[in-house]
Order: sequence, then C-alpha cells, then structure tokens
Amino acid sequence: MRLPYATSIDTPLILAPMAGVSEAPFRQICRRHGADILMTEFLSAEAIKRGIRRTLEGAEFEETERPIGVQIYGADPEAMARATAVVTEAYQPDFIDINFGCPVKKVVRRNGGSGCLRDLTLVDQIIRASVGATHLPITVKTRSGWSEESRRPVEIALRMQNAGARAFTLHARTRTQMFSGDANWDEIAQVVEALDIPVIGNGDIQTGDDVARMKAHTGCAGVMVGRGSFGNPWLFRDARAVLNGESIPDRPGAEVRFQVAMEHAMLAIRLQGDTRRTVVEFRKHLGWYTKGLPGASALRARLFEVESMREAAEIFEAYLEPILTAA
Ligand SMILES: Cc1cc2nc3c(=O)[nH]c(=O)nc-3n(C[C@H](O)[C@H](O)[C@H](O)COP(=O)(O)O)c2cc1C
Repeated sequence: MRLPYATSIDTPLILAPMAGVSEAPFRQICRRHGADILMTEFLSAEAIKRGIRRTLEGAEFEETERPIGVQIYGADPEAMARATAVVTEAYQPDFIDINFGCPVKKVVRRNGGSGCLRDLTLVDQIIRASVGATHLPITVKTRSGWSEESRRPVEIALRMQNAGARAFTLHARTRTQMFSGDANWDEIAQVVEALDIPVIGNGDIQTGDDVARMKAHTGCAGVMVGRGSFGNPWLFRDARAVLNGESIPDRPGAEVRFQVAMEHAMLAIRLQGDTRRTVVEFRKHLGWYTKGLPGASALRARLFEVESMREAAEIFEAYLEPILTAA
C-alpha cells in the first residue's frame, strides 16, 4: 500500500521525528544518504497558535527536504485545528502528522502526546478538527497504548483511521515503557492486517537488515528509523540496498565519517546560525559519528568540549593524521 505522499516509492524509508535531532541539517544529511521522507520534530499546537517564534522556526524546511511532514501535538482540538491551518498556509509541507506518542512528563501532564491515549474520544476530536482545517493529508504517530494493561494498538489504530488519519505510524511500545524493552513488531503486523490505510513500522531499527526484517515480519508500507540513524545516515543507504536484494556496502571508515560530520556541521552553521548555541547543540552529533572507532571514547570526550566547528575539524585531522600517514 502506498502512502498519501511520496507515492512512487516502494517501502519508503522515513527519518523519525526527533526533538533536538531531526532538525533541518540532520534531515538534509539523511536525505543525501537515502531517507525518502523527512519529518520535523514535534511542535506544540498552543505555541504555534500563539505565534512563538522558536516553535514556528521548527516548521521551516528547504525545498530539497520534500516530501516532508510537520509534526504537531496538543490536547485541545481547537488549538490543533488552528495550528494545522497555520502550518498549512505558512509552510505548505507535504503532510501534517499528529504526535500521540510522546512519553515526556511535561507533555503528557497536559494530555499531549501519549497522554491522549487515555481518552480516545479526545483523540477522535483532535484528528477530526485537524482534518477539517487543511487540504493536506493528516497522519498520526502513536504508541501501543498508555500502559501494559491498556495496550490495544488495533483499537487505537482503528479509531484513528475512522477519524480521518491517512497513514498510521506505530512505535510499538507503551507510554509506561518509555524506551525500555523491545518494540513489539507483532503489534505492527496486527495493525497492518486491521487497517485500510498505510501503516509505517517503527521501533528498534539499527541496521539495514533490520529494515528488511521489519518489512517481512509486519508487511508495513514504510519503515521509520529513529535512534539507529544517530551518526549513521548510511543506514538508509544500507536499507535500500537490502530491500533491492543487493549486498550492504562497507561501513564507512573514519575519514568518510568525519567528512560527513563536517558537511553536517556546515549545514548547521548555515541553517541554524554561526553561534555558540549551534556548536553546543551539535556536540552530540560529533560524538555519534565516532561510534565504534578505535579510541572513540577519548575522541568523544574532546569533541564534547569544542567551542567551534573549526576545533572539531582539527580534532578529526589530528585523529586521522597517523592513519593517513601509515596508509
Ligand atoms: C531524542 C528523541 C526525540 C524524539 N522526539 C520525538 C518527536 O518529536 N516526535 C515523535 O513522534 N517521536 C519522537 N521520538 C520517538 C521517535 O520518533 C521513535 O518513535 C522512537 O525513537 C522509536 O524508534 P527507534 O527505536 O528507531 O529510535 C523521539 C525519540 C528520541 C530518541
């Protein structure tokens, strides 16, 4: 089954919405490495409604990022409709996704994110209000339930479909699980079986092979990748190779990784400003690009203290020097 956007792609690979990570620079890096669909981090409908500048900036993207979805969350149907209308008019993304999955206390306390899963009538109202406020497809992303006792992904999914959602992403964990335990891929398969709209599988994809395994296990229409992409945008390339029946290319060595890290850093400077804040928020990405390299923890410790991208480049050069001289 094809998604309502990116319709020509068989089994699209989707970069998960991730607060503080799936911002424009990382999205563009993942696109260059094969992510077919991108999504913004989740944005508060209340903040959009009130015109809070930093939240609105989160909805910005460049044309090269299409197809892209803007993700919003909130527990007030009226605010969700207003935010949907603002995002549609001001940013024209390819779709708008509603987050019913966020487990963070600050969000669920006001019934946002997965907090809504405790009240499926409210979920109905939120989806209907958003659908009525735009011509764009409204999609949803959720968890398998609030808690182990109220784990009922199929019931939740059917409610969301009936309210007008055009695609459904399941992160097959409950809110109370947060990120512990394994995502239950059987539940993704059950939802695929029950729904008429396309289902995107999400949870615990770490390699290109995992993508093919999830597709085979669940029959999902698309696969969403979150944490596995940290410092590893090559996962998308690897996944496409496996889905095409080709062998996985070699894992890039330090030189290529550092090149891409700096490409990513330059995008961050261009898109987020040449400021200390950009550098400080970028340190985590620098660390992730070193994962698995010899001496990675010492390297990471130094990268976590950089005050400029130039400093990061120098650390990379110093690390590579003996390797390049020996070669
Ligand atoms: C740092 C971080 C931020 C996240 N922010 C969001 C978000 O803004 N919206 C959302 O729907 N899910 C968010 N998630 C959940 C991911 O989209 C995804 O559902 C989850 O990480 C499971 O996929 P994975 O096992 O591939 O990481 C976030 C996850 C992480 C690790």
